Amino acid sequence: MAKKLFLKTLGCAMNVRDSEHMIAELNRIERYDLTQDESEADLIIINTCSVREKPVNKLFSEIGQFVKHKKKSAKIGVCGCTASHLGEEILKRAPEVSFVLGARNISKITQAVNSEKFLGINIDHDESEYAFGEFRQNLYKAYINISIGCDKKCAFCIVPHTRGDEISIPHDIILNEAMKATKNGAKEIFLLGQNVNNYGKRLSGGRKGELNFSQLLSQISKIDEVERIRFTSPHPLHMDDEFLEVFASNPKICKSMHMPLQSGSTNILKAMKRGYTKEWFLKRAEKLRQMSPNVAISTDIIVGFPGESEKDFEDTMSVMEEVRFEQIFSFKYSARPLTAAAQMTNVVDDETASLRLQRLQNRHMSMLDEMSSKYLDKTFEVYFEELRDNGMAAGRTSQNFTVCVAGSEELLGKMKNVKITRPQRLVLYGQIV
Ligand code: SAH
Ligand code: F3S
Repeated sequence: MAKKLFLKTLGCAMNVRDSEHMIAELNRIERYDLTQDESEADLIIINTCSVREKPVNKLFSEIGQFVKHKKKSAKIGVCGCTASHLGEEILKRAPEVSFVLGARNISKITQAVNSEKFLGINIDHDESEYAFGEFRQNLYKAYINISIGCDKKCAFCIVPHTRGDEISIPHDIILNEAMKATKNGAKEIFLLGQNVNNYGKRLSGGRKGELNFSQLLSQISKIDEVERIRFTSPHPLHMDDEFLEVFASNPKICKSMHMPLQSGSTNILKAMKRGYTKEWFLKRAEKLRQMSPNVAISTDIIVGFPGESEKDFEDTMSVMEEVRFEQIFSFKYSARPLTAAAQMTNVVDDETASLRLQRLQNRHMSMLDEMSSKYLDKTFEVYFEELRDNGMAAGRTSQNFTVCVAGSEELLGKMKNVKITRPQRLVLYGQIV
């Protein structure tokens, strides 16, 4: 009989893909069916994120809840970035946890599950050419890893310490994955990495890749069945002209660009070790809008980084005014262990950081109102991916705007033209035309 697996995934798209890989690996040996009910599971896995402090703090209370509700024989495992950096501490503080598997050690999942106790947190472990089993939760949109780890070491970021050095995956593996996914019905390929546009600089064993990121995008677009290509996250520093040119001119590449700003102040960017200035970022964004007039730009912003003055924050606000980002993911700075910024003493007090975050978010909301009202009566091509409550189906435009229409399963995996009848800040409602 099949076993039951309860798998909770936190964090980014890379974690979503890691979870799919774990499910595929487990199913190679024996069948595991997914369940939403932890009390009937034979195996409970939490795939954790450690980018900010909050979810890490919640981990142990969450494990406590699972221990309370689980079947007596069920095993609990903690995987992902928090597993990488807390490692043995998890096994000590929560003796009910039987394995801890870091983000770069996913291929060891079967071994971990079949051990009494298992700790696999080696961040030098190289899975860049490992042939993971097949499993996708979403058949319409296929996540494909193109690199693991990150070399950038931004001062605030724990990721290089949990996912290790950056290694690109050979392009033939990526192209093969894309072909397999399209055979199974995916029209959209979503490339994943911490720093995607640095692709190809180093493969396993230090070899240089044969293709750079722009060339990889072109190759993927040559697969007939691929209709849309997305990627995350690119780094603003590597947005050279060749990349912007390929992005603008290739009709299969979705016109949605993530440009993680982090801060609009050149001083703070320097302290963050981001490698670009305010002016440089603004010029790249301007060039991008010039070359791709219908692009939507999204960004990540951190407020309250150590040393951020009122003037620095105003710089961030002014970049937001100038670029008019269509989407912003904004965060209060959270000091993370192992990072350079955690040693900085010029901290911004929590109240100031909260007020700045609120100001930024309020202003962006009003910008969104102005922007979204312009989409009334416009028609977009929408790729439908999921069902929502109350008889709605949701999909995305090339610019990554969410569009909802009345509809059901028959729309999933289809591309339709939709005229917007009720634009809201985060969702555009419309009708198929
Ligand atoms: N490689 C990705 C970043 C992954 S982390 C990139 O370059 O975009 C995702 C986002 O979380 C970051 O862009 C940053 O805005 C935010 N973040 C990372 N560390 C943080 C911290 N210590 N405090 C607050 N936000 C943080
Ligand atoms: Fe983190 Fe900077 Fe890499 S944000 S993931 S160190 S590009």
